[in-house]
Parts: sequence; C-alpha cells; structure tokens
Amino acid sequence: MHIHAFPADRRRYSAFLRHAHWLSAALVLVAYVSIYGREWWERGTPERILAGQLHTLSGLLLLLLTVPRLLVRFQETPPPIVPAPPLPQRLMAGLAHVALFLYLVVQPLLGLSTLMVSGKGVGFPLIAWRIPGLAVPNESLAKAIKELHEFVGVLFIYVIAAHLLAAIWHWRVRQDNALQRML
Ligand code: HEM
Ligand code: HEM
Repeated sequence: MHIHAFPADRRRYSAFLRHAHWLSAALVLVAYVSIYGREWWERGTPERILAGQLHTLSGLLLLLLTVPRLLVRFQETPPPIVPAPPLPQRLMAGLAHVALFLYLVVQPLLGLSTLMVSGKGVGFPLIAWRIPGLAVPNESLAKAIKELHEFVGVLFIYVIAAHLLAAIWHWRVRQDNALQRML
C-alpha cells in the first residue's frame, strides 16, 4: 500500500521559468554536440564550419535567454519542495543553481571573447553578416581565454551530470516534488 504522508504540492515554477529551463537545457546539448561532433568532418569543409556556427549560435542564444530568465527569477520565489529537504541539502542545491546560472552567462561570454580577441569574429549559418573581430587581435590572450572556455566546458559536463543525478534522486529515491515543479 502506498501511504501519502506528504500530499504532493502541485505548485510549479512559472511557465516562463519552466520553458526557459528546458530550452536552455536543449541549447546546452546543441552547444556540446556541435562542438564535439564537428570533429567528424575535415577542417575547412562546409559541414564543419556549419557545426562551429551552430555552436556559437546556440551559445549566444543561451546568453540572450538567460538575461531575462534571471530578471524574472529575481522577482519570483520558487515553490517549496514537499517534503522540505534539510537545510544543508537546500544550501547545496542553491549553490549548484547559482553555479549553473553563472555558467550560462560566463561560458558564452568566454566563447565570444575568444573569437573577438583572436580577430576572427563570429559567423552565423545562412547569413553573410558576421560580428567583426577586434582590428588589433591579441593571440596570446585569445589562447588563454579559449583554454579557460574549454576547461569550463569540460568541468560543467560533470556539474550538469550531478544536477541530472540530483533530479533523478529527488524523483526516484526521495520521492518529493522537486522535479515536478520544473515540468
Ligand atoms: C554555454 C555555451 C557554450 C558551451 C557549453 C561551450 C562549450 C565548449 C567546449 C566544451 C569547447 C571545447 C571543444 C574542444 O575541446 O574541442 C568549446 C570550444 C569553443 N567554443 Fe564554446 N561553448 C559555449 C558557447 C560558445 C560561444 C557563445 C562561442 C562564441 C561566440 C563559443 C566559441 C567557441 C570556440 C571558438 C571554441 C574553440 C573551437 C576551436 O577549438 O577552435 N562557444 N566550447
Ligand atoms: C535533463 C536534464 C535536466 C533536468 C532533469 C533538470 C532538472 C531540474 C530541476 C528539477 C530543477 C529544479 C530544482 C529546484 O528547484 O530545486 C532545475 C533547476 C535548474 N536547472 Fe536544471 N535540469 C536539467 C538540465 C539543466 C541544464 C543543462 C542546465 C544548465 C546548464 C540546468 C540549469 C538549471 C538551473 C540554473 C536551475 C535553477 C532554476 C531556478 O532556480 O530558477 N538544468 N533543473
């Protein structure tokens, strides 16, 4: 018999925050698949250039989406998790979410800076217009920013995996409404 000691709280994040969350998750997936998937093609082929452009486009859209998302998020108190997790767990989750938000802003900016400072600029699929790079490139600075961008990119594969495992743990093990609030 299944006893509901804690009636499920049906309140969710607002529609905008829920849609922004899942759209962001999809764009993050596109950013990783396109940058690692482009290795499939030889340097200079149209397919590989397109994959690189999909990478920069998904990353820039992510940045554009995260700004209004954060503005809305500052106005909104998330619905409580029922049953409430103990304080240390709530603090850990809060820290993880701050880190994920920071990443959604900083990581695209690092990628963009790489292409600006190297003088390459940013091209887009299907249109000729591009964001021009700096007229006076700084190769060594561009390389340092690129290495930081790659390091953060790999580091957050693990952070996102932990975030995903936490969501599954709430759902299957703790059986609270944490995931339902985002659906
Ligand atoms: C959250 C969004 C983003 C994520 C998760 C991400 C992730 C990554 C990762 C993991 C790499 C390393 C790939 C490798 O080691 O082969 C990379 C490379 C790169 N990314 Fe991003 N990136 C994002 C956004 C952007 C944006 C917005 C731009 C530019 C506007 C950009 C430009 C680049 C460039 C130029 C490289 C180096 C490619 C090369 O090796 O020549 N990224 N990115
Ligand atoms: C399939 C993958 C994912 C699942 C199942 C998932 C699940 C969730 C859930 C259940 C929450 C609510 C947590 C809470 O309120 O305590 C949440 C929040 C959050 N997630 Fe994800 N997520 C996924 C992917 C991602 C990705 C890829 C990112 C970004 C890199 C991300 C960033 C965030 C952020 C920043 C929050 C905090 C939202 C806020 O406070 O407004 N998530 N996620």
